[in-house]
Amino acid sequence: SLHLDRHPSFSGRPGPVLLVIADGVGVAPEGPSNAVTVADTPHLDELTESELATQLAAHGPAVGLPTDDDMGNSEVGHNALGAGRVFAQGAKLVNKAIESGAIFESKVWKGAVEHGRSATMHFVGLHSDGNVHSHNEHLYAMLRHAADEGVTSAAVHILHDGRDVPSQSALEYIERTEQVLAEINAAGGRNFRIASGGGRMYITMDRYEADWPMVERGYRAHVWGEGRRFSSAKQAVETMYDEARAGGKEPSDQYLREFVVADANGPVGTVADGDAVIVYNFRGDRAIEISRAFEEDDFDVFSRQGPNGENAPSVYFAGMLQYDGDALVPKQYLVAPPSIDRTMSHYLCAEGVRSFAVSETQKYGHVTYFWNGNRSGYIDETLETYVEIPSDNVEFDTTPAMKVREITDEVIDLLRSGEYDFGRLNFPSGDMVGHTGNLDATVEAMAVIDECMAKLVAVIDELDGVLVYTADHGNADVMYTEKDGVRSPKTSHTLSPVPFAIHDPNYDGEYHVAPPAHPGLANVAATLLNLMGFEAPDDYEPSIIQF
Ligand code: 3PG
Ligand code: CO
Repeated sequence: SLHLDRHPSFSGRPGPVLLVIADGVGVAPEGPSNAVTVADTPHLDELTESELATQLAAHGPAVGLPTDDDMGNSEVGHNALGAGRVFAQGAKLVNKAIESGAIFESKVWKGAVEHGRSATMHFVGLHSDGNVHSHNEHLYAMLRHAADEGVTSAAVHILHDGRDVPSQSALEYIERTEQVLAEINAAGGRNFRIASGGGRMYITMDRYEADWPMVERGYRAHVWGEGRRFSSAKQAVETMYDEARAGGKEPSDQYLREFVVADANGPVGTVADGDAVIVYNFRGDRAIEISRAFEEDDFDVFSRQGPNGENAPSVYFAGMLQYDGDALVPKQYLVAPPSIDRTMSHYLCAEGVRSFAVSETQKYGHVTYFWNGNRSGYIDETLETYVEIPSDNVEFDTTPAMKVREITDEVIDLLRSGEYDFGRLNFPSGDMVGHTGNLDATVEAMAVIDECMAKLVAVIDELDGVLVYTADHGNADVMYTEKDGVRSPKTSHTLSPVPFAIHDPNYDGEYHVAPPAHPGLANVAATLLNLMGFEAPDDYEPSIIQF
């Protein structure tokens, strides 16, 4: 049942409860590479230094990831925030399915192998061991298994990372993958190779429909072999690195252009009728659009036709997981996704609580789709309002404010409308600018967040509401690492904890911050419910406040 009991001693405040998620703003020691502490942020400081503040774990097992070495990310962070519990996440579920062999017993895998035996098996995915969207060991396990099961032709379509891993690491991953492919091919009678690819922020891995042309470029490179031709992936990356440097710019893997591996006969691994295509990312946001392009019969977002008007090939398609539990994308998948049920939104809707969620495109799905347990739709449209502010399609260090001011203005309007009891927003810039590795731009991003936080605090004061401030994982808190006096930009997330703070203008000692041992993001949902005057469901992780 989705009923919530009223809290026995606290009925909430007259105004709304607002949750501010500053994406990628972790807590790390002060220092020159910490954009959060370098920036001048008097309002954030006041919040996090108050008696109603603490810190939360946002990485590793605290958010359902395999080990303490796994940095947090927005998917697992928002899942934990929205569902109030920790679920074993994709990274862990796929490891388990591979270790137990269950993945290779699945009907979908067997179907893919059957197609691969008489045609070609394609693998498309993020090419790194970042463990945020994918892990190359998963790819290697599948390639080896496919070969053992009699597949003789496989094509790997690689998306350079440089965002969850060092920004110039593509060549290392390519070298390792070429080794694995060579080992497989050494048995004879097999033709496994890298066929196409490009930077993850330039092709294929768009999210939330921010930039479909990215997906189109990727599809055309993977399927039709359209793109600049090279003799190998290594040659493609080396050439593009050299060209970037010749133009006075340090290359960045995530933004490298598409490439196609070709020999004298043309591209070596285009997709044909009857082939199998597996997207091996386990995380959904950036895998949904390319999955739709491969699997929808009536797909019409862009033309999939070949250069001479050929029809799009009809393929056997599968994703690593099912990425969207509402829209059921993709239909076929290798590993069942975590079943994240009874999220906080489900309970609030059942109780008739009116809520809103706001962000710009790049993070819009984080406060809707991820928040609601990887469901893309509304739970109850009569009670919920979701607002998406369109993102610019740029490299975000060129616009460090992003749409943070626009998000703030929208949220203030929604708060003042008096129509909502609970709202949540995501400020994208600590993370999105942080991912560029540009320290100065990220410091600027933090200053804008601070300015907007002051405005939100003032409106919460005016409405007698409550503001809760946190983040989903770190990023801006470590912008570079230094070894032997040489700085390398750090584009990825961090292992840092995140801030948690309550701003309650009517606070009169009714409760205090008394977190359980090892509090994490999953403890936030119960806390929010308490602040709205509800008791949390029994099996939610305990509240951070006690009455
Ligand atoms: C991305 O998809 O942009 C990164 O891999 C992870 O960032 P996010 O988890 O903050 O979205
Ligand atoms: Co991020």
